[in-house]
Amino acid sequence: MKTNISAAIDCAVGLAYFGRISTAKQRCYYSPKASRTVKDDFYIHDSELCYLDGNSLGRLPKAAEQRVQQVVREGWGTDLIGGWNKDWIHLPRRIGDKIAEVIGASVGEVIVVDSTSINLFKLATAALKLQSERYKALTDATNFPSDLYVLEAACETAGYSQVVDAVGDPESVETTEDALLCEIDEQTALVCLSHVAFKSGALWDLERITKAAHEAGAMVLWDLSHSVGAVPIDLNSCQADLAVGCTYKYLCGGPGAPAFLYVREDLQALLSNPIQGWFSHESPFVFSPEYEQADSINGFAVGTPPILSMAAIEAGVDLILAAGMESLREQSIALSSELLTLFDEKLSSLGYTLNSTRDAVRRGSHVSIAHPEARRITANLIERHHVIPDFRAPHNIRLGIAPLYNDSEDIRRCVQALELSVCNREYETIELSSDPVT
Ligand SMILES: Cc1ncc(COP(=O)(O)O)c(C=O)c1O
Repeated sequence: MKTNISAAIDCAVGLAYFGRISTAKQRCYYSPKASRTVKDDFYIHDSELCYLDGNSLGRLPKAAEQRVQQVVREGWGTDLIGGWNKDWIHLPRRIGDKIAEVIGASVGEVIVVDSTSINLFKLATAALKLQSERYKALTDATNFPSDLYVLEAACETAGYSQVVDAVGDPESVETTEDALLCEIDEQTALVCLSHVAFKSGALWDLERITKAAHEAGAMVLWDLSHSVGAVPIDLNSCQADLAVGCTYKYLCGGPGAPAFLYVREDLQALLSNPIQGWFSHESPFVFSPEYEQADSINGFAVGTPPILSMAAIEAGVDLILAAGMESLREQSIALSSELLTLFDEKLSSLGYTLNSTRDAVRRGSHVSIAHPEARRITANLIERHHVIPDFRAPHNIRLGIAPLYNDSEDIRRCVQALELSVCNREYETIELSSDPVT
């Protein structure tokens, strides 16, 4: 680490640099000539706010607000029960088909339903039951905790003495692809991974792992929560079996918005939904006492869809489709690369270390920066600098780049705030709150 004096000089030089660039009008990278940017499609109450938390909760699209108002007033207020036949009953499939386009799936392979955790439970249990002669559910020890808990429960529920094999060190930020590939064998029933690691932002090679699993006769279940809307995905071309994901991050579907699930078409009739609700019945409105699972993606639903929160999702998905995943990926990589360059210039000498790979091909759309004082620095960024990242224990500051609306200025302002936090020891005066959400 540098001495305080040399760090302070660097800081002064850095701030002069930032002063110059921050006056420039920054525009969305992928539409530089447009008179308006995609940012204009979002409700931005404070133009000074630098929002880098799209990897936990995306911003509010203006069209989502209008749509929810419409569903409340015209639908619930006016149509009442008639709203179901007019539109609502079709929403899980209609939005599912649009998400299918984002993730390279086909019409009829995706449905919007339940939460990511519940969907993971349904699909993991169904896959383990189908592969009952194999004992191993393989995952990554650094996977999102809910996925690990759910996988344990799925093994118990499937009832074939299957066990979770979590590869890697749970205290690290990611597991290597080679370490995981070594463990895929003829005893593996299911490989279950998050496409982008939630701490480091590392991107698994979906095609390579799916192929290796298939060669060993195993199925693969991908959690796309941190990649959908941020990284191009082509499930069909990889013959991916199963996937789940949330809609409240890069898809900007709103807090607690319902999730989605994907089941490859030829598997839909083979897999049994372990939560047999009436919405997964072949004919829910016949009200038969005998259960018969729908022979389509509907077979993986459970109960009545939450229409108000579902209505909010479509606008964000439409914006993603209009922008195009290739352009969004280009924007994401340009911004995360700029962040890494500024990291080297401004932050690496201040006790910050990088918890994300420098290889853009292997990086999702968030960058994780570690510092022993990460928790207080995160709070300082929010309180003093109007910059919102998120904190992940023990020492990670996650900067989520939402390619729909983040731009260069966000990156520069964030790095400047990180620099000032340490240079001026601003974080030392921060008192940590006891708020439950970090
Ligand atoms: C990768 C991943 N999987 C699963 C979940 C859990 O999602 P939910 O709370 O919607 O079930 C999250 C939540 O952030 C996540 O990031």
